[in-house]
Amino acid sequence: MSSIKIAVFASGHGSNCRALYEAIISGKLNAEIGLIVSNNPDAGVLTWAKEKELAHIHISSEQFDDKLQFHHALLRHLALHHIQMIVLAGYMKKIGLPLIEAYPNKILNIHPALLPSFGGKGMYGEHVHKAIIDYGAKITGVTVHLVDPEYDHGAIVMQKALEVSENDTPQTLAQRVLALEHQTYYRALQLFAENKVIIKDRKVFLSRNI
Ligand code: GRF
Repeated sequence: MSSIKIAVFASGHGSNCRALYEAIISGKLNAEIGLIVSNNPDAGVLTWAKEKELAHIHISSEQFDDKLQFHHALLRHLALHHIQMIVLAGYMKKIGLPLIEAYPNKILNIHPALLPSFGGKGMYGEHVHKAIIDYGAKITGVTVHLVDPEYDHGAIVMQKALEVSENDTPQTLAQRVLALEHQTYYRALQLFAENKVIIKDRKVFLSRNI
C-alpha cells in the first residue's frame, strides 16, 4: 500500500491535524506527517507538534520583505521534507499562486459546510454555523475540496451531511460538524494515498479498479 508524505498547515488548535495523526497511527490512513506549518507562533498545533516530535515551523509572510521571498522559503521547507501533498486544517491565510502551481491538485482543504453554500471570504469558524442557522437550512455538513486560487472553490473530493436541529446554536452545530470533519478528512486523503483520484474538467472522479 502506497503512503504519501503530507504537510499540514494550521493556524489554531489543530484538532483536524490531530485526527489525521490518529488515523495514521491506527492504520486507517497511509500517510506520514512530514511537516506542520503555522503562520501563528502561538498556535496550539505547534505545541502539540513539539510534544509529538513532529517537524514543524512557524513561517508567515510578515517575516519577509515580500510575498515572493516568503513563497520561496516555504517551498524550500516543503521540498526539504519531501512533501507530496499539502493539507489545510484551519489555516487562516489564503494560499498563494506559487504554492498552487508547485502543488497542482495536491492541496486539500476542509470546510465546515456543504459547498458551494456558506463558503467564501469571511465564512470561517462560527460565522459559517451562524449563517446556516440564520438562513434556516435544515442540512449542513463538511466538504473536502482541492484548493484553487478562489476561496472555497476548488473541485470537491468528499462531502458528508448532518441535520441541523431546531435547538442548535452556532456552538452546538460547530461541535457536531467538527466531529464529522475528524471522521471525513482522513477518508478523503486516503483516496489520494491509494491513487484513486482522477481529476477531469475540474471534477473529481474515483477510479474503482485500483
Ligand atoms: C475547522 O472547522 C475547519 O473546517 C476550518 O477550520 C477549523 C479548524 O479547526 N477550516 P481545528 O484547528 O482543526 O480544530
